[in-house]
Amino acid sequence: MMGTVFSGAGLTRYTRVAIALHWTIAVLLVTNLGIGLLMDDLPDGIVPIHKSIGMLVLLLSLVRLGWRIGHRPPPLPASVKPWEKGLAHAVHWIFYAFMIFIPLSGWIFTSASPKRHALTFFGLFGLPYFPVPQEKAISHVWHGRHETVAYLMLALLVLHVAAALKHRFLDRDRTLDRMLPGAGPR
Ligand code: HEM
Ligand code: HEM
Repeated sequence: MMGTVFSGAGLTRYTRVAIALHWTIAVLLVTNLGIGLLMDDLPDGIVPIHKSIGMLVLLLSLVRLGWRIGHRPPPLPASVKPWEKGLAHAVHWIFYAFMIFIPLSGWIFTSASPKRHALTFFGLFGLPYFPVPQEKAISHVWHGRHETVAYLMLALLVLHVAAALKHRFLDRDRTLDRMLPGAGPR
């Protein structure tokens, strides 16, 4: 039980940190997409929770981007076609941009609102407003961006998950295993 089995220093799988961040952010982000889509039918008390989850996604995504820059992902199975690699690569970098842009735009548009509501982290402590003038027009524009990019994210997410499932169940290759917690070195 002592120590960890190293599979060629991460040659076959993502690092534990990358895996933990991937799945934590995935759960939080999907939760927030769901809250956002259903917001009109949910009680008002959900809005501060949506904001807190979003601010956490922003923080974790910045950490993750930093980690990604310092750690190369494990290579894809050789059977993965070049166009699939290119598409996956593009979608992944768009995801990093969106994981940051969506909460950032939410932070900006609520801070620009003429009627600001206190921004807290799950009611535990206060968070600062984004430095932006409190003007209705600015808030409106950034609200639009928040909504549009969230929907784009949802569309790309369908593609991302479909690709993961295709590799797992049709190609039966190791693409998904590289991102699963505790899949074990192979
Ligand atoms: C909001 C949800 C999700 C987000 C934001 C997200 C984001 C990402 C990003 C940015 C990467 C690239 C990692 C890197 O190379 O730095 C990635 C890889 C991956 N994700 Fe997701 N993901 C999400 C949900 C899922 C789900 C639900 C699955 C599985 C059903 C999944 C399966 C994978 C796999 C297999 C990889 C590795 C692919 C490869 O190396 O080419 N992801 N994800
Ligand atoms: C993972 C991050 C986030 C995702 C995926 C997300 C997604 C969404 C979606 C899909 C909506 C519904 C569309 C709309 O009415 O605009 C929404 C609404 C909203 N979001 Fe976010 N959001 C995130 C983070 C944030 C953050 C960090 C804040 C503020 C600090 C925020 C504030 C709001 C507010 C106030 C609304 C309601 C707007 C209204 O009254 O119509 N969101 N969000």
